[in-house]
Amino acid sequence: MGTEEPKSTGPDLAQGVALATLTDGIMILGHVRGEPVLLVRRGEDLFAIDATCTHYGALLADGLVVDDTVCCPWHHARFSLRTGEALTAPALNPVSCWRVERSPGSALEGTPGQHCTGVAYVREKLPQVDRPSWSCGADKERTIVIVGGGAAGNAAAEILRREAYSGRITLLSADDSLPCDRPNLSKAYLAGAASEESNILRSAEFYRDHEIDLQLRANVVAIDAGRGYVELQDGTRHAYGALLLATGAAPVKLGIPGADLPHVHYLRTLADSRALVSKAATARRAVVIGASFIGLEVAASLRARNIEVDIVGPETVPMEKILGADVGKFLRKLHEEHGVKFHLGTTASSIDGHIVTLKNGETLAADLVVVGIGVRPATSLAERAGLAIDRGVTVNEYLETSVPGIFAAGDIARWPDRLTGDRIRVEHFVVAERQGQTAARNMLGQREVFAAVPFFWTEQYDFSLAYVGHAEHWDKTDIEGSLDERDCTISYLHHGRRLAAAFVHRDLEGLRTEIELAKAMMAHVND
Ligand SMILES: Cc1cc2nc3c(=O)[nH]c(=O)nc-3n(C[C@H](O)[C@H](O)[C@H](O)COP(=O)(O)OP(=O)(O)OC[C@H]3O[C@@H](n4cnc5c(N)ncnc54)[C@H](O)[C@@H]3O)c2cc1C
Ligand code: FES
Repeated sequence: MGTEEPKSTGPDLAQGVALATLTDGIMILGHVRGEPVLLVRRGEDLFAIDATCTHYGALLADGLVVDDTVCCPWHHARFSLRTGEALTAPALNPVSCWRVERSPGSALEGTPGQHCTGVAYVREKLPQVDRPSWSCGADKERTIVIVGGGAAGNAAAEILRREAYSGRITLLSADDSLPCDRPNLSKAYLAGAASEESNILRSAEFYRDHEIDLQLRANVVAIDAGRGYVELQDGTRHAYGALLLATGAAPVKLGIPGADLPHVHYLRTLADSRALVSKAATARRAVVIGASFIGLEVAASLRARNIEVDIVGPETVPMEKILGADVGKFLRKLHEEHGVKFHLGTTASSIDGHIVTLKNGETLAADLVVVGIGVRPATSLAERAGLAIDRGVTVNEYLETSVPGIFAAGDIARWPDRLTGDRIRVEHFVVAERQGQTAARNMLGQREVFAAVPFFWTEQYDFSLAYVGHAEHWDKTDIEGSLDERDCTISYLHHGRRLAAAFVHRDLEGLRTEIELAKAMMAHVND
């Protein structure tokens, strides 16, 4: 995974493709005047769209056609073949559609070779399909307030406008920067491989142009659900017709002597990542406290900057609880091959000047300490407002909280999972965005059940893994293929039933699994 430069591969689609060679649902990757384009046949329809994903630039030809959509192989965004619209996150921008022309007298029926004669030519790029404008709608007098300018909050605000909601949108964020691509903060940006601009999901102009009143450094301290307003720390009040809580999660703080020294860092916000990048410019030795995703990704990024890294964690195998012992041991070896030293089965007991002392008596030199020991959902605002809480904000299948008109999405939301029957809460970027999108539609009265399959990914050095489903507890893992050869599927089973699977270099299988699980889920929804 990463960003990819589009190349002119495959046939020149402007020169034409014989209809007899087009198989239903199979994508043809070609180019038109130097731009990569996908040509797809669905039944008797032909579609041509841009060939690269608008998220991180994956080639959509490596993904999957499902109905009249294309799913991206990397992070599973879905685009409409008919309109180019980015139907599901993490892609936020549409792809362009291209005009397809058939030669006179051509026919496209049945299987290839049968009744398929003539040629398809891809002509010019079409203008984006006009969405209904929000400036002339009926809800002018309504206000939707969104608390939280992260993945879920931003996605919700965008969808409200895409759905032609014409009322006010107030997006209140305690952050001091624009909504950002949080996963980038521990990966490419921290490693020095991505620009500062790549962190921002949308520019300030985007919010202005879409009449989204984004207020930064706006810390909401109270909700009056009875009278329908939220109150900021400075006393300002914002009345709402509907409210979305998307306050995310906050890092767990280290409670040991020296934890507040200036060279001890956490990583949640863009400001945190900038501070780390700045320290990394001169740091020589880092101690990373915590051997979970953030810790391991930070370690990989600091190694890319040639900083010596020690990782400290209480577990004996990193990531074992989430990914199982085999993946955990593989990750440890991967990091060790890159020069990282592990100190497992222990924790830090104090930080003193430039020495981190461990409970087992070891001492580690560090001019930079990064703490990644987990996060807690930011539920205090919801709690004070009297919303039902259960290790997160309790929501129903429409992402509505126990108080009608107040919705919750993202890291704070615990929702009923149709697949397992359990109430689950996850901390995944794509899930947060998709929940923001569903919550937005439901704030407009559309009763859309949240039935997306959880998905996350991690990248460390040149290794990436995608995870589909949700297995909080499993009793068996099953590896098909080889981790060492970086070509495998790891299934997580409970009582013989596969709840989730992780994929290494098997993007298509990951997509197919997500689609299978989604179908199973929809079957439950329709029961
Ligand atoms: C460094 C890092 C790397 C990650 N990498 C991955 C990854 O590779 N894959 C993956 O799937 N997930 C990853 N995640 C997790 C993912 O980013 C989160 O699950 C996702 O951002 C959650 O979205 P959210 O909208 O719920 O919360 P957030 O994106 O955290 O946004 C919460 C927002 O709420 C605001 N807020 C909080 N309280 C208040 C208040 N009282 N008033 C006003 N505003 C408030 C905050 O300022 C913030 O703007 C990563 C997270 C981090 C920190
Ligand atoms: S590159 Fe397509 S979803 Fe990320």
